[in-house]
Amino acid sequence: MTPAPDAIAERLEAVREHTLAILEPLDPEWITRSPDPIMSPPAWDMAHIAAYEELWLVTRLGQSPPLHPDMADTYDAFATPRAVRGEIRILDAEESREYMRRTRERALAVLAGADLSEDAPDLTRGGFVWHMVAQHEAQHNETLLQTLQLMPAGTFSPCAVTLPPAAAPVTGPDPVAIDGGPLMMGSDGAHGALDCERPCHPTEVASFLLDRHPVTIGRHLEFMADGGYAHPGHWSEAGWAWRCEADITAPLHWQPDGEGGWQRTQFGCTESLDPAEILCHVSFFEAEAHARWAGGRLPTEHEWEMAARPSPTSRNEVWAPWGDTGHEGRANLGAHSFRPSHAGAYPAGVAPSGCEQMMGDVWEWTSTRFDAYPGFRAFPYREYAEPFFGNENRVLRGGSWATQSVAARITFRNWDLPERRQIFAGLRLAWNTA
Ligand code: AVJ
Ligand code: FE
Repeated sequence: MTPAPDAIAERLEAVREHTLAILEPLDPEWITRSPDPIMSPPAWDMAHIAAYEELWLVTRLGQSPPLHPDMADTYDAFATPRAVRGEIRILDAEESREYMRRTRERALAVLAGADLSEDAPDLTRGGFVWHMVAQHEAQHNETLLQTLQLMPAGTFSPCAVTLPPAAAPVTGPDPVAIDGGPLMMGSDGAHGALDCERPCHPTEVASFLLDRHPVTIGRHLEFMADGGYAHPGHWSEAGWAWRCEADITAPLHWQPDGEGGWQRTQFGCTESLDPAEILCHVSFFEAEAHARWAGGRLPTEHEWEMAARPSPTSRNEVWAPWGDTGHEGRANLGAHSFRPSHAGAYPAGVAPSGCEQMMGDVWEWTSTRFDAYPGFRAFPYREYAEPFFGNENRVLRGGSWATQSVAARITFRNWDLPERRQIFAGLRLAWNTA
């Protein structure tokens, strides 16, 4: 299908509006400062968003020179890793905003004369490269939110929307039986699918059980009260080594409340924990330990996709478990809530498998190591996914409250190292069929 240039421009503009809205409540002093060596100063993300857009939509497509040719390495994620981004000269807030604005103007001028037809090269056919650029900015919005969450109290005060309440609090696991069989996994490119999601390929999944909802804070408090962080038996060897070395006794952003319980601090705000809310900010190692303690395990990414696809045996692709309509009222996506919702809050977003909240709230850790699908071809550049294959990275699925719908779909594969927990990640239990 040939998209209209106006629709492509609108998608880019909607993500940009969101980027600026996310940064709006931040103390200007902190735009060029990083709160933690594992994150970048927000201004780095801003100019990196512009540099990526400029590279693909202006330099490659329009053959026009970059605005800051001397800073190409500064904004290349591989040449300049996160730990040094707070130490080197980067564009300030105003320069970064200007870089974003001028690049967008130039990109829209190139779009106006671009070939989007069925006969166009892979890069532009169907509007692929513009979709990729919009997704890239959306992914960095989520990274920015991780950074903003680590900012000191009083420097970032966002305005959050109210979430729908669950009809009844979910207090325990609710296993849904899922029949095994053939699964068409991955994507042939619909909805802006990126190289690591491709190609769509046949595979087999054995019958299994998957929890109807992601694990809640209440259930993780039970894990903690039962000595979950103190018993090596629940943990993998690598997980236990990490938990001892880093002295982990609770999810990230949690602290003792002084009365024998726990509270959390996020976005500069300290609050009591809501047991009905979906658990967030656990590492893969913690997720694995929780699952073992609960008598289950993490699902594989194959199992996750089987449960999320409306029609597991068909190539016919929809973006969401409920079909091709929007996520309003069906999922907590889009970075409006600044927290996960209650388990059970989105019955309208149910997948035909019976599983709920597969999209939004928290990224769900799977047991699968991030690797290439059979028939993988790096496109349009090697560095997006390929350097991360075949090492310790684990696959996460589903998107979080901080993910925008342009960067979420049932085939989307996120990945991260097993010790990371500043990402908006939780878990869902799986079990073998008896
Ligand atoms: C897909 C979220 C792992 O943030 O490292 C951003 C996305 N790639 N810029 C990341 C990405 C290049 C990527 N993740
Ligand atoms: Fe990037």
